Amino acid sequence: MRVLVTGGAGYIGSHTLVELLGQAHAVCVMDSYANSSPVVLDRVRMLTNGTVTAVEGDVRHDDTLRRVMADFRPEVVIHFAGLKAVGDSMSDPLGYYDVNVNGTLALLRAMDVAGCRRIIFSSSATVYGEPVYLPYDEAHPLNPTSVYGRTKMIAEHILTDWAAANGGSAVLLRYFNPVGAHASATLGEDPADVPNNLMPYIAQVAVGQRSHVNVFGDDYDTPDGTGLRDYIHVVDLARAHVAAVDYATQRKGARPFNIGTGQPYSVQQMVEAFRKASGHPIPTVIAPRRAGDIAAMQADSTRAHAELGWRATHTLDDMAASTWAWQSGNPAGFRTPGR
Ligand code: NAD
Ligand code: UFG
Repeated sequence: MRVLVTGGAGYIGSHTLVELLGQAHAVCVMDSYANSSPVVLDRVRMLTNGTVTAVEGDVRHDDTLRRVMADFRPEVVIHFAGLKAVGDSMSDPLGYYDVNVNGTLALLRAMDVAGCRRIIFSSSATVYGEPVYLPYDEAHPLNPTSVYGRTKMIAEHILTDWAAANGGSAVLLRYFNPVGAHASATLGEDPADVPNNLMPYIAQVAVGQRSHVNVFGDDYDTPDGTGLRDYIHVVDLARAHVAAVDYATQRKGARPFNIGTGQPYSVQQMVEAFRKASGHPIPTVIAPRRAGDIAAMQADSTRAHAELGWRATHTLDDMAASTWAWQSGNPAGFRTPGR
């Protein structure tokens, strides 16, 4: 299949390109490099020996989108391009609605013109909000607590209405907490600033770039008092997209899928796994709870197993070891000289 990948130079997109190329799909990336760099695509080319066509452009720009559609004629689109920092979304709501919602609208308009009727969308577990029950299944009410979460929920609604109106297929992948890196240690997460997320922060402490991990709260109603999350290895997540591409060619309509392992780990367990993987001490300091955090999140991914034929295979140790190999081999991320 010809697969257009918006945001393909990003963390999840780059790992997905490797899996798509491994299954002989043809790929074209459209990325503004707002949070990535073209170097990432060189690494994907090196790793796979594959062809990665790339167009620099903003997903909100109708003209660029139409040109890409006309030149590449995608049969499926995977839509990663978007903004993802929960905190920033609260201080810049209009910017987040513009990129995440208007970007999705512009993409669907261009797909309509090109007659492309299949899309895989990067949604998030954050659409659920405070759990009414755990693990979340896809029927759990949607009640996001941040602007970021609302942009994802609104985009899901738009995609659902679009698919119903034109016989299209929209696969809504609700990611839990993506972590880890490619086994080659040539691709991984490369935060532009101080990491907001736990795993890249721990990695920077282990490599000596930061002094300690702030543990945001140790008084939650969880076994060790720290927050529980359903961490999913980025390569497992990437493979869910390949399964979704196959699914979209066979089914019409919109369908949400939880993509997680179903096995939550606490902040303390993540730190411990990283100590083991890196052999480095990782000092922690108990800090106040982070505003807006939920005590525990856990996926029920039964639907993804049954309907996508997808299942996570990587363990917590794989997540920690691959992150460590990436971080220690690329201390300055994709800017590390000589890599
Ligand atoms: P990322 O920032 O690494 O990748 C996003 C890519 O989109 C980047 O390459 C960026 O340059 C590009 N981009 C941003 N704005 C753009 C625009 N206007 N036009 C074109 N390209 C643009 O993030 P990621 O972690 O790979 O996330 C990918 C998607 O998955 C995002 O939509 C994100 O919201 C979603 N998601 C991520 C997580 C997570 O924890 N990483 C969790 C749930 C959902
Ligand atoms: N945490 C710390 N210290 C840190 C960073 C995080 O203790 O320095 C804790 C948090 O309080 C939470 C856990 O580690 O208990 C995980 O936090 P992350 O920031 O890594 O992840 P979140 O669950 O808050 O959010 C992430 C993404 C969202 C996405 C969501 C989906 O940032 O974009 O996963 O579940 F929507």
